[in-house]
Amino acid sequence: MNAEEITLGLSYDDVLLVPRKSSVESRAAVSTKSVLTKGIALNVPLISANMDTVTESPMAIAMAREGGMGIIHRFMRIEDEAAEVRKVKRAEAFVIENPYSVKKSDSISTAREIMREMGVSGLLVADKGNKLLGILSGRDIRFVTDGSKPVSSAMTPRSKLIVGSPKISLDEALHLLDKHRLEKLPLVDSKNKIHGLITSKDVHNRLRGSVKSAKDNLGRLLVGAAIGTKGDFTDRAVALSESGADVLVLDVAHGHTSSVISAIKAVKKELPSMPLVAGNVATRAGVDDLFAAGADVLKVGIGPGLACLTRTVAGAGVPQFTAVAECAEAAATFGTSIIADGGIRTSGDITKAMAAGSAAVMIGSMFAGTDESPGYFTVRDGVKYKTYRGMASFGANISRKKLDKSKINLSDAMGIVPEGVESTMPYRGRISEVVTQLAGGLRSGMSYCGAHTIEELRENARFVRLTQNASVESYRKLK
Ligand code: XMP
Repeated sequence: MNAEEITLGLSYDDVLLVPRKSSVESRAAVSTKSVLTKGIALNVPLISANMDTVTESPMAIAMAREGGMGIIHRFMRIEDEAAEVRKVKRAEAFVIENPYSVKKSDSISTAREIMREMGVSGLLVADKGNKLLGILSGRDIRFVTDGSKPVSSAMTPRSKLIVGSPKISLDEALHLLDKHRLEKLPLVDSKNKIHGLITSKDVHNRLRGSVKSAKDNLGRLLVGAAIGTKGDFTDRAVALSESGADVLVLDVAHGHTSSVISAIKAVKKELPSMPLVAGNVATRAGVDDLFAAGADVLKVGIGPGLACLTRTVAGAGVPQFTAVAECAEAAATFGTSIIADGGIRTSGDITKAMAAGSAAVMIGSMFAGTDESPGYFTVRDGVKYKTYRGMASFGANISRKKLDKSKINLSDAMGIVPEGVESTMPYRGRISEVVTQLAGGLRSGMSYCGAHTIEELRENARFVRLTQNASVESYRKLK
């Protein structure tokens, strides 16, 4: 070993972006849009970590609404993780899958009662086989005084209805609603069986609130889901894909291993067109091997996370800025991208990671302690807290063992060597507030670099390394 050959490793705090001449007039003129891989474009390049104190469906829904994406963690049963994915995909679905209906022989009083109880302004009229016979709207019965009359006496019959096919796209639905000035568009198959309902109110609400949301081509929120490399991981991958996950994240602490390479191949064989993120790696060689195995995007970061103990327990890791810059450069030779995972403490770190070539950053601790992170708040000295723990912490290890077997014994616990810590995070408010601050900081950083887009940020980026005094000058500020 020649000590002189040991290379330098830099962390985010060791560098700053050098400001340059900018034609960016306002931060609003900056686009933070970033393409992770084919079909996965984020409006804000932030991804919430697949950790059990960070991302379940509420976080993933909120992240996608803000233009980013959440990755549902895998430390639950396959059916539970699949259900979490479905909740995200349904959160802003413009199709009501099981619309309320009445029989044509039901009385108008019954229909009124259902509308009132369910808070809807109309009902489909269906036969026993769920075939569409008509629509009864609140307006149709507003002036009916005899509530014992049958629904059939007031409904608009099927022959006069405009309907859509079950596979209708958002654009086609909008076109029909607009052209025929419809309030409700039932979706039926070729046998006239009801498959759903689209209402103009839902569609317009969704379009209004969703300019910044990260969506799939059916207008549903984007969501990713994590898988491992052991046991039934391919069953999990298939179940998550069937539930509508847009991307799978094959995630283990040390991703540059033969078992991860085999797992990537196995998932790709089963689901060739499903985008697959794999990791974690921290070197050029790791990038080369995992892309060669078939991964579409790599997650980069060994030990930079706030709850990580890997570097102290194992003595292994690469400072995150160096790892991101080296791996992004290697990924670019494959025409693909990386996610900088862990170690983000400020919005400035996000700008640095994106300028160094990552397509998005993954965040754990800064998103913990929000309304949308899993778990309950505890209160200490008047301050609210939520738990945040590394997925290799003692507690997370025990939870994982409990999933595999109902009872765990002392020797199970004694064998654990934690590479993560369990702690608490003070309350941070809603995730939208956190993302607004982080995305605003990124936009500001881009404008200092004269960049209107993430691509320009990468092209324009010039970093300067800091001395110890420069670090003090840069980061030691009034509290
Ligand atoms: P931040 O800094 O955003 O990092 O909290 C989140 C990332 O940390 C990684 N992670 C771990 N790393 N031991 C580790 O060495 C752990 O127990 C652990 N848990 C999470 C993970 O990459 C996550 O996205």
